[in-house]
Amino acid sequence: MKYHFDQIISRFGTNSAKWDGMAQSFGRDMIALSVADMDLPAPPAVVERITEMAGHGIYGYTDPFPPYYEAVQDWLSRAYQWQVPQEWIVFCPRIVQAVSVIIQNLTERGDRILIHTPAYQPVAKAVTINERQLVESPLQLVNGRYEIDFEDMEQQMSKGVKIVLLVSPHNPTGRVWTIHELERISELCIKYDALIVSDDIHADFIHAGHEHTVIAKLSEQVADRSIICTSPGKTFNLASLEIANIIIPNGQLRERFKEGLQQAGIHNPTFFSVPALEVAYTACDEWLDELRAYVTDNIAYTMEFIKAQMPELKVIHPEGTYLLWVDCTACSIHESDLVEWIQEKSRVSVSFGTSFGADGEGYIRLNVGTPRPLLREALQRLADHYPIHQK
Ligand SMILES: Cc1ncc(COP(=O)(O)O)c(C=O)c1O
Repeated sequence: MKYHFDQIISRFGTNSAKWDGMAQSFGRDMIALSVADMDLPAPPAVVERITEMAGHGIYGYTDPFPPYYEAVQDWLSRAYQWQVPQEWIVFCPRIVQAVSVIIQNLTERGDRILIHTPAYQPVAKAVTINERQLVESPLQLVNGRYEIDFEDMEQQMSKGVKIVLLVSPHNPTGRVWTIHELERISELCIKYDALIVSDDIHADFIHAGHEHTVIAKLSEQVADRSIICTSPGKTFNLASLEIANIIIPNGQLRERFKEGLQQAGIHNPTFFSVPALEVAYTACDEWLDELRAYVTDNIAYTMEFIKAQMPELKVIHPEGTYLLWVDCTACSIHESDLVEWIQEKSRVSVSFGTSFGADGEGYIRLNVGTPRPLLREALQRLADHYPIHQK
């Protein structure tokens, strides 16, 4: 291994939403496995480029120029075998912003927008905060794997749905949607004339035996009603640099989205974001291969640890992402009991299930994008205070 992902780097004092946020509420003696960024440094080539840019000293306005678009095209082609003309690519700082702008500009107040639950809440919130109606289609747990309930989805869509907000791969369940599932989603969207907004932010973490398909690749007809939200934020741990690439094949939808961005006053990228993206997308393949291997090992380690030490917990086998969705209902169906065990006694911070909607109660989400020594310590703390052995 060329890169040393085992190294623990304190994030306290960096305004980290995950670590400083936790410290402010609960103290510094806790370990955070919560917010979905990684406790691992970005690729050295990116750090070097940012350092070089920082040294320039003049942090004036920037624009996305051709090398930005070429880097995104190169990435989409290499990572997902998706050839995209430059004009389809629209810069937007963040995916959550893009989803909100799409909702504001391509739907009307009161329109119905469907999402599968449990769901990443900022995307769901973009619906309700814009006064649209959130239609929840619960995923079904079938033999330990979450599946879309197509009957429910069709029933909801037959009542009129303007957008299907797809999270692909899915956070928090780790599902990587199969081509067959994507085809069925597309068929419903065509039949009921709904737009597909696919949030592909986790698409660069796909585990062995699974394959990510960009839904817009299915056919021209599907592409014509799709908006694909991509970002190097999770992949290279650049979330706070704020750069996302929104891919919109349909010219009319694209113009309305661009207008919406202007209305919201969203235009120039931040000074560091474009150089970071360009290096990440074009010169960091080796780093990413090693990172993926590390994350895979962390997942395996966590699953084995839980099986050995806390066997009543059921880890949903992740097909993608660096997140693990864990069924803790054997300990308690009440989140307050899980909070007592995990947060208060074990001093570990996780994402509790209800932060993904009411049907998440009894579950937790563990973020394993962290150095293994820290992960080991956090899991040991959980095992030490595991309520079932203590009964
Ligand atoms: C599914 C999903 N979408 C979007 C985001 C956030 O993206 P951004 O920071 O670009 O708004 C996250 C972050 O956790 C996420 O999990």
